[in-house]
Amino acid sequence: MKIGIVQTNPVFGAIKQNALDVCNAMASCHADLWVLPELFATGYQFASLEEVEQLAEPVPEGSTTQTLSRFARQHGCAIAAGLPERDDSGRFYNTAVLVDPAGLVLRYRKIHLFAEEKRWFSPGDTILDVVDVGGARVGLLICFDHFFPEAARTLALRGAEIIAHPSNLVMPVYAQLTMRTRALENGVFTVTANRIGFEHRTAERLTFTGCSQMVSPDGTLLYSGPSDAVETVVMEIDPSQARDKALNRWNDRFADRRPAMYDTNLGLAAMEPTDRPA
Ligand code: ACM
Repeated sequence: MKIGIVQTNPVFGAIKQNALDVCNAMASCHADLWVLPELFATGYQFASLEEVEQLAEPVPEGSTTQTLSRFARQHGCAIAAGLPERDDSGRFYNTAVLVDPAGLVLRYRKIHLFAEEKRWFSPGDTILDVVDVGGARVGLLICFDHFFPEAARTLALRGAEIIAHPSNLVMPVYAQLTMRTRALENGVFTVTANRIGFEHRTAERLTFTGCSQMVSPDGTLLYSGPSDAVETVVMEIDPSQARDKALNRWNDRFADRRPAMYDTNLGLAAMEPTDRPA
């Protein structure tokens, strides 16, 4: 299976031109699954709610999802990509779509909002789901979700073999580290598509860190992109490598889990000292 990444440098608000640039990049070589950055056609740093209202789109009816679906149909591929979504009740989400020649196959609304995103977007309410793409099981995370191992674990337990990770990373290469770990601890491929360049549309200047990457289930870095240039890459992988969770004869990433000993529902109160005997 061929997996492609387009590392971009979009112009804020120029949806049509940004989408066209990405389509031209994807048309330059074949991939079975393309991964594009978060908010790939709009740019990242909204300065007002009015801008979000102007640039957000319904999914799948909006022009960006339609453009990607048309490309997928014409080129026989699937595409994972981020965009701002407006739902029927006027709420906004930082969303990733997965389209294939049949159209929209998965919509994921970012669960863990980062920084000023909390001013515009509602936290995601879609489940962490996995779908079949060309014989491989694919799930979606968006950017800051990488910081929360439970999210990647949930996808892996649901059968994901590939985690597509549209991103607009601004912190110093944390995600390159965590997504390598997410791949290793879950025995899955991770594909992070980031962007480069900067935006300075509010008080804060954001520099996007590039270094898109692809990691195999044993933690091997298959591809690491440049920090300061756009780039399109396609790599061949074998998704079946993600089906065997064994580490050795004795240990298996999933069979050795002890869910009864974990409490993933603990709240912040669990961090306070208790008077329980040791
Ligand atoms: C991010 O979640 N875009 C840092």
